[in-house]
Formats: sequence, structure tokens, C-alpha cells
Amino acid sequence: MKEFRTQMMDRVLNWIASHDDAPPYLLIDREVLKEKVNLIGKGITNSKVFYAVKANPDIEVLRFINEFNIGFEIASEGELTILQELKVAPDRIITSNPIKTFKFLKAAVQYGVDYYAFDSFAEVEKLAKYAPGKKVYVRLTVPNEGSEWPLSKKFGVEMEEAVQLLIYAQKKGLEPVGITFHVGSQCSNIYNWHTAIDKARQVKELAQKEGIEIKMLNIGGGYPIEYLKKVPTIETIESKIDSLLQKSFPETEIFIEPGRAVVGDAGVFVSKIIGKAQRGDENWLYIDVGVFNGLMESIGGIKYQYIVGSRGDEKEWTIAGPSCDSFDVIDKGVLLPEPDVGSLILILSAGAYTISYASEFNGFSIPKTFLI
Ligand SMILES: Cc1ncc(COP(=O)(O)O)c(C=O)c1O
Repeated sequence: MKEFRTQMMDRVLNWIASHDDAPPYLLIDREVLKEKVNLIGKGITNSKVFYAVKANPDIEVLRFINEFNIGFEIASEGELTILQELKVAPDRIITSNPIKTFKFLKAAVQYGVDYYAFDSFAEVEKLAKYAPGKKVYVRLTVPNEGSEWPLSKKFGVEMEEAVQLLIYAQKKGLEPVGITFHVGSQCSNIYNWHTAIDKARQVKELAQKEGIEIKMLNIGGGYPIEYLKKVPTIETIESKIDSLLQKSFPETEIFIEPGRAVVGDAGVFVSKIIGKAQRGDENWLYIDVGVFNGLMESIGGIKYQYIVGSRGDEKEWTIAGPSCDSFDVIDKGVLLPEPDVGSLILILSAGAYTISYASEFNGFSIPKTFLI
């Protein structure tokens, strides 16, 4: 990983030196992206990977990923439109958004997307009306402890309700084929997959008693990347998951829908230091990318690694974005040698959930993305 990062940093620095584009911008390194796409899913028997487009829907990023012939997981007509533009075949697209807009649902059905997640009776009725006969999979709630970006409260049902929903879907003319869950994004707790797979096994057995055969298990996303803290490797996580799946789902097709782990490490934000100040005993550093135009996940606790070009003793910095909102504070207690105003600051592992969350709040434009 270290060596890989050094090689990527060489490519990043070369790119910056040979281009005049004004910061802030996001660089996505093709080599790292390729490495991740080739790695993820290799450790899981009988699996198919669907990249979660929400992590980074940049068209050039998607075009590049598309070359590797993996699938895509989408949640909206905007995401579908980009894939249509890239001529991604509908059998390589699934949607795991359990509550879909009418517009999206109609567009997805028209394009020929076959797989739809759900977790409520109302969604079954919507699917029965607008996506009759389609393959559907129910979302379970599973523990999200140890995930830095928990997802479970908004979606998912408990086991009994999951079985009732599968039965209802069948009664309404849909084809209930599977179960899904999400252990939470940036999940370092391997035990979450353990609990989730066990819950899914129980649902499978209960459904079987009702005459419903579970042919697919979608284990969602959640694979972590290394921001600052050490995390288990993808190989370690997949070997653990695979041994659990071999016991509980030996004949079942496995779907994986990673977002962060595919594109996160490939991204480096190139930002400019636009100001410095001492406020009380705090040293403040103001940079031109912040909570609103790219680093939204910092408010949820994601801590990035920063690199500056200066040398000398390190000081503790509070790093803030460019807007006038006091919410726009990215990090505190960051140790860095004092940089000059006007110099660059690089933010590592910034490829996922950065530009896709960015807004133009306060007139700051959304940083461009360049593939290198
Ligand atoms: C349904 C679904 N699948 C996949 C993902 C991707 O998760 P991650 O980026 O943690 O791999 C998400 C993220 O929010 C999601 O909601």
C-alpha cells in the first residue's frame, strides 16, 4: 500500500507540474482505480461486482470502470442517464435504493433493468404497478457498529417482516429472488458481515418454508479504505466473508456493490491555501475546498490525510473551507509544518463521496475531476 501510494504521488506531482489548471480539482489515478476494480470480488466465490455509482459518478471515471466489464448499482434517473450515455447494457445494472422515485422506476424499467431492492409493502405495490414481473430483493437491517458512515436506520426490515415482504412481492406478481443488506460505509468491523450473513441465512430458510427460493444474496458495500487509521485489507475481509458464505449460501449467486473501496484511494484533491489566522490558541488554515464543495464527509467523522510542501516543525491546525459558514470546518488538530498562503495542499483518499456530494453553496464552484 505504501509503495503504491508513493508511485501514485509521483504521478500526481508530475500532473500538477505539467498542467496550468487552477485548484481546487480532484485527480483520479487510473492505475489505482484499475488495481481496485481488479481486486474487489476476486475473493468471493460465484460473485458479481456492481460499482455503486453514487461514490463518484464522474462520466470519465465511469467510462474507465466500464472498460472492465463490471456492473453498476444506481439509485436515480441521473445515474441511469450517465450509464445510458455510456451504453452500459441493462443486464449490468441493478438498483438497491429501497424507495425509488416514480420517474426513476419508469426509466429503469423502460431501459430494461431487471433487479430492484425494496423494504416496504408500499414499495412492493409501486414495483408491482410500474415494474411488473421484475426480480426483487429485500433489504434487511443489520448492525452498523464500527462503520464510520452508518446507513442502517433509514432502510431495512427485521427478519420476520423481510419474509412477509417476499411473500407479498410474490403474491403481487413480482419475482422475489434475493436478500440484501449494508453493513455501513467504511466498515472496519468484520463481525458486521458475520451477523448480517447469519440474519440473511435465517431469512433464506424461513422463505424456503414458504416456497420462495433465494437465488441471490447482495452483500452491499462497506469495504473500508485507509484514510488515517489502519483498516483490514480487502483480501482479509473477502476471505472471511467467503468462508461464511460457503457455509450459509453455497449455491447462491453473490452480488457486491462497493463504492468507496473502488474509487476512494484513487483520488487526490489538489487545493490551495487561501488564508491563515491565529484565533485564541488555535492555528487556522483556510483552503479552497471545504464541507460544501467536496469534503462533506468530514462532518460525519471522515478524517483525511493532508500533504503540504513546506518543511520545518509541525504545528496543530484547524482546517476550514472557503465559505462564510462556520459549519465549514473540515478537521482539527492536524499536524503540519506551516505552509505559505498561496501554496498547495493535497488531500489523499478523496475519490469517493466528495464531488458527488458537492454543491455550489456561497458561489464556490464544484471542483473539476481529471483522470491521470
Ligand atoms: C445501497 C447501497 N449500496 C452500496 C453502497 C456503497 O457503499 P460503500 O461506498 O460503503 O461501498 C451504498 C452507499 O451508500 C448504498 O447505499
